[in-house]
Amino acid sequence: MMYAAATRLGVTLRVLAEGPEVSAAQVFHDVTVGDYTDPATVKAFAAGCDVITFDHEHVPTDLLTELVHAGIAVRPGPEALVHAQDKAVMRERLSGFAPCPAYRIVTDETDLVAFGEEQGWPIIAKTARGGYDGKGVWKLDDAAAARQLYAEVGYDQQLVAEEFVDFARELSALVTRSPSGQAVSYPISESIQTAGICTETRTPAPGLSEDRAVEAQHLALRVAEELGVVGMLAVELMERRDGSLVVNELAMRPHNTGHWTIDGAHTSQFENHLRAVLDLPLGDPGLRDPHVVMANVLGGTVNDLPSALLHCFARDRRLRVELYGKEVRPGRKVGHVVAYGDDPTEVRGRARHAADYLMGVEEQTNGE
Ligand SMILES: Nc1ncnc2c1ncn2[C@@H]1O[C@H](COP(=O)(O)OP(=O)(O)OP(=O)(O)O)[C@@H](O)[C@H]1O
Ligand SMILES: [Mg+2]
Repeated sequence: MMYAAATRLGVTLRVLAEGPEVSAAQVFHDVTVGDYTDPATVKAFAAGCDVITFDHEHVPTDLLTELVHAGIAVRPGPEALVHAQDKAVMRERLSGFAPCPAYRIVTDETDLVAFGEEQGWPIIAKTARGGYDGKGVWKLDDAAAARQLYAEVGYDQQLVAEEFVDFARELSALVTRSPSGQAVSYPISESIQTAGICTETRTPAPGLSEDRAVEAQHLALRVAEELGVVGMLAVELMERRDGSLVVNELAMRPHNTGHWTIDGAHTSQFENHLRAVLDLPLGDPGLRDPHVVMANVLGGTVNDLPSALLHCFARDRRLRVELYGKEVRPGRKVGHVVAYGDDPTEVRGRARHAADYLMGVEEQTNGE
């Protein structure tokens, strides 16, 4: 998706991909297949680049710091990126100026159990590094569950223990910031998670007051400024039942909750990410239509997704689709659809229908 934006800007991209089958390697012309944790591979790859950026946050921080010391532009830089790589580092830094759940960094089961006893069960435990799509996040109902978790993850493993936030819903605040300090803020989205995976976003977040939306935007802009982020920053938020907001975690790259921007915003998150990385003026993040819904296509019973588009496109001329060229496997994110328009219920219905069809979900009886 970044490649399409680069083409429009006349920017030449080169990708370091972990395998020839990954989505980016299928569309880029200049592909290096190699291990992004291997210093020699990453250094050789970086040598010919004007600037390095990311579509995931797993390149080791120390390796990026070495690149910076070697004079290579890394955007976002490792000092910012570490807050998206390591949830312990993120909590320690953010709790100084942003609303966060109560938390403790624990290294053994005694600490974890003590935190649960003080907070009251349930609590949440997370691996500091390497989690994704809810893997590495556990809800613990009691001390026995906490001990069981340590038995599984191993002794001396650092975990972040958090208050269980009984949230009303999850929101996402996306901002883009450039090295010269310009920043733009996208409208706030509601993100719907099913079994730890984002399945849908609705923008603007339904029923969110103007004040709360502005508060969320200011919060994300402040995080970008304080941490010196360059490029896209996604601040995943939880909205408590009293309406107040707490930060869940950060991502510093184009984010799944911003995929709606490709068709639903004046400037997509991918284009603004590249503009920021290149220190070009940023584009308008505003909505093109009043309501935009993105629904992820998770691997289901449909293996030939392009053929299934016949039905989707015949039914809905304004439907937008991105398929990632990935092999369909159960529950894997293999694409997304976007619908936009004036009526939120109608827009959501169109997006849901298309995504469900592409997943092979049986249609609910709806009178058709
Ligand atoms: N303190 C908390 N209280 C309640 N629920 C939480 C808490 N922290 C996380 N969650 C839930 O777990 C989900 C996954 O957590 P988190 O975003 O930290 O993990 P991840 O695996 O890194 O995420 P991603 O799916 O964004 O890659 C959140 O979206 C939220 O639904
Ligand atoms: Mg998350």
